[in-house]
Amino acid sequence: MWSAVADRAAEVGEVAILVPPIHRMVPAHEVEELVAGGELDLPQALIGLDARRQLDLVAIGIEPTPAARVRADDPAAPPQRPHLIGEAAQRTFDEDVAGRDIQVDLAPPERPSQVVEPAAGEPLDGGEHGVSVSDHEPSIRGPAQELRRCCYRSDVYRADAPGRVNLIGEHTDYNEGLVLPTATPQRTVVELSPREDQIVRVESIGYMPVAYRLGEERHHGDWGDYVRGVTWVLSKAGHHIRGFDAGIASRVPPGAGLSSSAALEVALLRALREAFALTLDDLALAYAAHKAERDIVGARVGTMDQLAAGLARTGEALLIDMRKAPIERVPLPDKLEIVVIDSGIAHDNAKQGAYNERRAQCEEAARRLGIAALRDATLADVERLAPQSATLARRVRHVVSENERVRAFVQALRTGDVARCGTLVDASHASLREDFEVSTLELDVLADALRAQRGVHGARLVGAGFGGSVLALVDAGGAAAAARAAAERYRSRTGRAGRVVMPV
Ligand code: GLA
Repeated sequence: MWSAVADRAAEVGEVAILVPPIHRMVPAHEVEELVAGGELDLPQALIGLDARRQLDLVAIGIEPTPAARVRADDPAAPPQRPHLIGEAAQRTFDEDVAGRDIQVDLAPPERPSQVVEPAAGEPLDGGEHGVSVSDHEPSIRGPAQELRRCCYRSDVYRADAPGRVNLIGEHTDYNEGLVLPTATPQRTVVELSPREDQIVRVESIGYMPVAYRLGEERHHGDWGDYVRGVTWVLSKAGHHIRGFDAGIASRVPPGAGLSSSAALEVALLRALREAFALTLDDLALAYAAHKAERDIVGARVGTMDQLAAGLARTGEALLIDMRKAPIERVPLPDKLEIVVIDSGIAHDNAKQGAYNERRAQCEEAARRLGIAALRDATLADVERLAPQSATLARRVRHVVSENERVRAFVQALRTGDVARCGTLVDASHASLREDFEVSTLELDVLADALRAQRGVHGARLVGAGFGGSVLALVDAGGAAAAARAAAERYRSRTGRAGRVVMPV
């Protein structure tokens, strides 16, 4: 069965083929070459088929489990049941392909995937070959040369991490306060193969490849700093790694205030942990990721994003008190859905001087109040500071009131009081706008557009602000319609296309 499909694929020459253990796609004619060169055994090949449905192409792959790796070394072994990327692909396989004669329509796709619409430069697959994949599980693709170099090595490690949506508790983490993030369903995936030398080579579709020698990590001001930061922090902590080749693919939208950078750092650290048997638990790994971002990327961020990428799961929030353990998991009530819309105005920690300025103001306010951090401030301190600096007093008022809101929000979640959650979210946005001054006109318009929708209990900007996304709490079942209508209203008011990130 597999050779029949592969023959047909090679004949038509349009189809992409994915090969285990890395899901990479190559033009079909290159499969012929690989087979002729003895580098690829047809039964091991993963075939892309035109689905003739909404999907442009169905990607079929063998799950990159250790078992699959063992079998891939044995040409006599029968092919495994393919792992299909995406539910629709699964259905198509079950209905059209499994156990039957294969009728493959290999016409090239007429349009790119409708599953996601990546922004220009976004490191997603799905463009060139029009391959649809699920929002949750991005696949990694590269040219045939890469396939030869990398894929048929048996030691390929795969790991991932989610982005984060902070439900409430903004600009409190670096003030030793409280935050309440949850995980995005979108994840960043890293696949890597160790090398014998000290060279690191990393690729991500849409970005310049990164290459350097371990021990020579320095700030460059590009995306490679996240990778350099990670290897730097590991060696600084005394962990032994060698060089590696890696591919990265992400469904966490960059610049949307959803912490794509922490997702990348944590996913890469997890893959390295696997590959080099590092003794790091997820908590230690999150702190390592934070150090990488602070010291090599140069963003003076708090630890919320890396803790969320390392520990958060969808369907629950993490209550993190930056001053005391343990981190608590708070289930999200079934009657609540979360909408997240990206305003289309990019937020970028590394370039965001305003973030560092806010942080410096908080430190200055704490210094003037004679306290270790604004976590210890009270509303009386706001009054005390006001005659000296109205700006600093407002910053303190935000931090004090936001910590209170996190406590109240968790309480409301536990009693299922979604209306109260919504009121607190609205108040958080107002405080971020008036007292912390990190909102923008677009974020305000988007939050209002969400609040105007049926079933929406409240809306607020997410993350550092100055751009990025807005979240809303919505009655279960109403999220998709509310998101669509709010994005449309936002577009008509600002001329900008808001991108619905959640629900997926
Ligand atoms: C960014 C930082 C976090 C946190 C938020 C604001 O996402 O990375 O540490 O400070 O802003 O809450």
